[in-house]
Amino acid sequence: MSTSKPVLQVIICSTRPGRVGGAIGQWFIDVATTHGGFDVELVDLLVVNLPLYDEPQHPIRLQYLHEHTKRWSETISRADAFVFVIPEYNHSMNAATKNCIDYLHFEWRYKPYGIVCYGGASMGLRAAQMLKLILAALKVTLCGDVSIPLATTPVKDGVFAGNDILVNSSNTQLNELAVFAPLLKPLRDSTEASR
Ligand SMILES: Cc1cc2nc3c(=O)[nH]c(=O)nc-3n(C[C@H](O)[C@H](O)[C@H](O)COP(=O)(O)O)c2cc1C
Repeated sequence: MSTSKPVLQVIICSTRPGRVGGAIGQWFIDVATTHGGFDVELVDLLVVNLPLYDEPQHPIRLQYLHEHTKRWSETISRADAFVFVIPEYNHSMNAATKNCIDYLHFEWRYKPYGIVCYGGASMGLRAAQMLKLILAALKVTLCGDVSIPLATTPVKDGVFAGNDILVNSSNTQLNELAVFAPLLKPLRDSTEASR
């Protein structure tokens, strides 16, 4: 029996210069590493640097033209679970989040995910609701969300200091992800051959 831990990718979705998403993502990575249930991997959309979706074929065909798509496919294929760290822009997620999802299909499917959302008074919840609709279309399984009001939990000197409430709700989400990651893997394995 394998003793390796499932791979959890924490996807920092803001690409904005001066973003707070980097600090929030790093805080969540620290919480997830302390949790101990996963091999935690940082995926930063600023570094991934995908152009606006530019593949001619639907991703369900797996006939990728561009090297950036092949690299992105390899990255997301490694994951057993995801946490999307998303800002709220205009009552939704930012464009880079939707763009990175649209590039792929099977690489997301039958994996569990959580959300860390943040913003103004809405705490990023409207962005989270939008993301849930999109990931439902790809059969990615929701394991909870952690919502952060930036007004009361600011980033100082590039560091986000999450309070106990946020750490507790993050651990609840991580526990759910740890339950679903091994449960969904046989489903992925059994459907891979029929792609
Ligand atoms: C284009 C834009 C639109 C925004 N729209 C909203 C919004 O609808 N609701 C909200 O609560 N905050 C909104 N904000 C505030 C952001 O959520 C906040 O600035 C957050 O720090 C952005 O994340 P980032 O710094 O990681 O990019 C918006 C910010 C930007 C730049």
